[in-house]
Amino acid sequence: MRIALLCCAALIAGAAIAQPAGQQGTGPGGHGPGFGQPGYGQGSPDFKLPPDPRAALEIPPHVRDFLRFEMRGHLEQLSTLMARVAEGNFKEAAAFARTGLAVMGNHPPGAPAPGAFMPQEFRAMGQAMHMAAAEVARVGDAAANPPGAQDWKAMMESVGNLTAACAGCHGSFRLK
Ligand code: HEC
Repeated sequence: MRIALLCCAALIAGAAIAQPAGQQGTGPGGHGPGFGQPGYGQGSPDFKLPPDPRAALEIPPHVRDFLRFEMRGHLEQLSTLMARVAEGNFKEAAAFARTGLAVMGNHPPGAPAPGAFMPQEFRAMGQAMHMAAAEVARVGDAAANPPGAQDWKAMMESVGNLTAACAGCHGSFRLK
């Protein structure tokens, strides 16, 4: 776990270098044609994406579709979790994390198991994400109701570790 988290931290540091804040798109300050001009929105031919450090994984198309479906579910769950946290409802946030993002291999019956097609590093990062969600649940359960300042700090830290686990894997792998 510790190794996986350290590994994520290193990758996130790398991702931060690759994509400094405020430079994530061409934006209105880009050098392409202006609004209303022919070619607007195409960007400048001089614009280059930074090098992509991600390892490309090839998996069967139906497994890929399922992984993406599952990922969209992860984002929805993260959003619901954040809503419960924002309400200060740490007990519900804990229960939601414990029965959702913390569960490994939480697939509907008959669904493919993407992990079976993935390298060990990918599976370890997946596991680190589930463990980070379990830690959110533990922190939520341990908090006072209503949560105090220390509880808020611990909760934000644990949720930050969870989102870092998402970002760490996204910075490391892509699908072909
Ligand atoms: C173990 C690796 C891993 C972890 C952990 C992970 N993801 Fe992903 N995620 C991926 C990969 C690989 C893709 C596909 C990227 C591509 O299209 O090449 C992806 C794609 C996505 C997508 C796009 C889905 C689509 O329809 O194209 C979303 C949204 C997403 N992830 C959300 C999350 C969230 C939120 C978390 C954390 C709670 C998370 N992911 C954690 C590996 C991971």
